Amino acid sequence: MASAYSSLASQLTSFSKNHFLSSSDLNSNQILSLFELAKQLKEGNRRIDLGNRVLGLIFKKASTRTRVSFQVAMARLGGQTVDLNPQITQLGRGEPIKDTARVLSRYCDVLAVRTFSQKELEEYAEWSTIPVINALTDLEHPCQALADYLTIQEKFGKLEGINLSYIGDGNNVANSLMICGAMLGVNVKICSPKGFEADTKIVEKAKSLSEFDSTITICNDPLNAVKEAHVVYTDVWASMGQEEEHFKRKEIFEEYKVDQKLIGLADKEVIVLHCLPAHRGEEITEEALESKSSNVFDQAENRLHVQQALLAVQLGGL
Ligand code: CP
Ligand code: NVA
Repeated sequence: MASAYSSLASQLTSFSKNHFLSSSDLNSNQILSLFELAKQLKEGNRRIDLGNRVLGLIFKKASTRTRVSFQVAMARLGGQTVDLNPQITQLGRGEPIKDTARVLSRYCDVLAVRTFSQKELEEYAEWSTIPVINALTDLEHPCQALADYLTIQEKFGKLEGINLSYIGDGNNVANSLMICGAMLGVNVKICSPKGFEADTKIVEKAKSLSEFDSTITICNDPLNAVKEAHVVYTDVWASMGQEEEHFKRKEIFEEYKVDQKLIGLADKEVIVLHCLPAHRGEEITEEALESKSSNVFDQAENRLHVQQALLAVQLGGL
């Protein structure tokens, strides 16, 4: 066990103090080692006490899973969190990020930021002297992708050669699934209506990071996309910040609903994932979400374990 711990540590210590702004900030060896650490923490085979470190949470958008899993992860590491909701801090009154980030770096040990633009997140990282974590932007949701691939690895015992078909909007969740999946040898298909495809720059980035001959495919036909899929994944059609497009999108995306018929076209061992929160009757039916193929609550649980592992690494706890 001691040598397994030291080999884990040797992969991960290089990430200590690093920012996690994009799925591409970790390489494939680091991600796999992080999953090992997350499983040790999950199974109670390892305890890490960081000694009263503090995570600051700056959330400009609503959150249940991300916020609470980070709070519980810090508590389990012997630390705590402070809520830096922009409505109650000077951020909401226009204090610049470059000042806020430098001040918060004097009080906190790590920051998790949920906001709209990736540029804003990058500005926090530029001015912070502590690690900054992407807790979701319009461009990426990298903590989500870590939990998703940990869940898939647990279910199938491997990642290389797994086919994941994401049906729906080419959004932040799809972007991180592509980048992280490409590095882990997962064949990722993103199937969206015309005009709602994933960002071409992210597609190219994912392709450039592909390992173990994994493929990234962008397509528009959901019936075709799910053939041979081991994982069918979906997310809301209108993300936070796109609420005014909700009704228009409901019409455009109707054929992209994940239901029992669509799942029936996939591999017979298929699992269904959704980052949650779900809009039942829109991107996924009640029946599909509650079916025995659905693993959405194991997936949500893994947010806690993988983020606990990530914090332990960033805060030098190995
Ligand atoms: N999946 C996810 O990030 O959920 P929350 O918006 O509740 O954090
Ligand atoms: N794509 C969704 C994910 C929510 C966890 C959003 O950004 O609102």
